[in-house]
Amino acid sequence: MAETLIIPDNATRTETYETLLPQIKALISVEKDLIANLANVTAALKQAFDFFWIGFYLKKENQLVLGPFQGPIACTRIDFDKGVCGYCYTTKATVIVPDVEAFPGHIACSSDSKSEIVVPVIDKEGNVTMVLDVDSDKLDDFSETDKIYLEKIAALFI
Ligand code: SME
Repeated sequence: MAETLIIPDNATRTETYETLLPQIKALISVEKDLIANLANVTAALKQAFDFFWIGFYLKKENQLVLGPFQGPIACTRIDFDKGVCGYCYTTKATVIVPDVEAFPGHIACSSDSKSEIVVPVIDKEGNVTMVLDVDSDKLDDFSETDKIYLEKIAALFI
């Protein structure tokens, strides 16, 4: 397996996602271990976009628990009714937060995080099994483009 990621120079975010997606698919198709695959996805997104923080929170019993991530240390457990991650979990829908300070109940793991997108992974029974959380140190850094492609990445873990 090639362990080098090809990231285009001076590409749009869409072009970068388009290049990245098949590489992520190939990378995880050869490995069955969930944690290993989640870890490589966070690393690939970090390498491609250098987002401030990228990570998965996994549903475990009655909380979301920190899984593989890239970036500064983060809170380890999130209640379903707390934060952007909890909101994503309960609504079962992607949440884009252009300004985290304007989101009631946002959990600030770092004051450097300015905007955020959280995407659910929903299994065939309709249960959220984990969420993919991406934080940026820039305001309003996420758009429909990120939603489309991060949802495609999340769908690889159904
Ligand atoms: N901001 C998230 C918490 C996780 S950190 O961003 C890594 C939230 O409000 O749920």
